Amino acid sequence: SFTPTPEDRFTFGLWTVGWTGRDPFGDPTRAALEPAESVRRLADLGAYGVTFHDDDVVPFGASQADRDDRLRRFRRALEETGMKVPMATTNLFTHPVFKDGAFTANDRDVRRFALRKTLRNIDLAAELGASVYVAWGGREGTESGAAKDVRVALDRLKEAFDFLAGYVTERGYDLRFAIEPKPNEPRGDILLPTVGHALAFIERLERPQLFGVNPEVGHEQMAGLNITHSVAQALWAGKLFHIDLNGQSGIKYDQDLRFGAGDLRQAFWLVDLLEGAGYAGPRHFDFKPPRTEDYAGVWASAAGCMRNYLILRDRAAAFRGDPRVAEALRAARLDQLAVPTLAPGESLEALLAEPFDPRAAAERGMALEALDQLALDHLLGVR
Ligand code: GCO
Ligand code: MN
Ligand code: MN
Ligand code: MN
Repeated sequence: SFTPTPEDRFTFGLWTVGWTGRDPFGDPTRAALEPAESVRRLADLGAYGVTFHDDDVVPFGASQADRDDRLRRFRRALEETGMKVPMATTNLFTHPVFKDGAFTANDRDVRRFALRKTLRNIDLAAELGASVYVAWGGREGTESGAAKDVRVALDRLKEAFDFLAGYVTERGYDLRFAIEPKPNEPRGDILLPTVGHALAFIERLERPQLFGVNPEVGHEQMAGLNITHSVAQALWAGKLFHIDLNGQSGIKYDQDLRFGAGDLRQAFWLVDLLEGAGYAGPRHFDFKPPRTEDYAGVWASAAGCMRNYLILRDRAAAFRGDPRVAEALRAARLDQLAVPTLAPGESLEALLAEPFDPRAAAERGMALEALDQLALDHLLGVR
């Protein structure tokens, strides 16, 4: 068991296993990988599909003939393996032209180029059957205070998203957008830094129904936030369109560890939430196999992401199915939280006149430590 199959709907970005290990301090430690090879290897490991940035499949500035040839090889690997492409996105951060951002670059001609680059890849995404288009604003931000008028930059970001949503509507594409928040890196401060910022921004768009979020585990954790709470609020708002699973240890640089590494307890609660809520989208891994690894290590790291998800799914099911847990949940009065605070049609007088002894209520323990220990026992596999 813990062997993934396509029914588990695990997907990987081509840029994840394809990361060659270049970082701000060192050169690549691995040779580049052909997208078709990634598709075949991930299919062999039991994945459901792959996702990509435009430039992951066709290098920036490639000729039309080169583009056609590369897309032919990519499509052939997809057909041969049955692998799907549920999501695609635009690289608006690698080329130096995007050094001050893309949709919010101060230079208007750069913003217009960013729109053209995105439109072109939206057409390809729709053609390959993707239903989600991710927008991660990696370079939409600043390192200094006067560099951008944030309110005006948000006007430009809204303008870009309204325009792109109009485009997919007009074309009749079955494509929705998922905004991916990140607090910093590569910019000192990035616009829409957390899931909460993105959810608030979406409500100001012309077609909010076409926009949701793509929370990444490590990105919320880089801001010191609880990823499970962020994802729960996205689910509550009907906005969890996609998810980037990976690992992170606390508030530091974007580690992009394999899923299950880093904060294991938050990973457990996240899987418990996704499975319990019946989240039906792909379980997408956005990680970076450390640059210490050769390709054997890369495939071991990819397999580990899926294996850890399946183990945590099993552990969460054991936790939820344990009668002692049901009892502990009652002792912690989770059932009471589910009861509306005011009864239907209740009079204001009834509320105001209700007798209450704050001292007695304050004396009641919440029994949360016993409940959490049961969770830890299940997570550690001793129950
Ligand atoms: C990160 C981001 C990126 C984006 C991806 C999609 O780790 O900084 O997750 O990997 O998800 O590039 O645009
Ligand atoms: Mn990341
Ligand atoms: Mn991501
Ligand atoms: Mn990433």
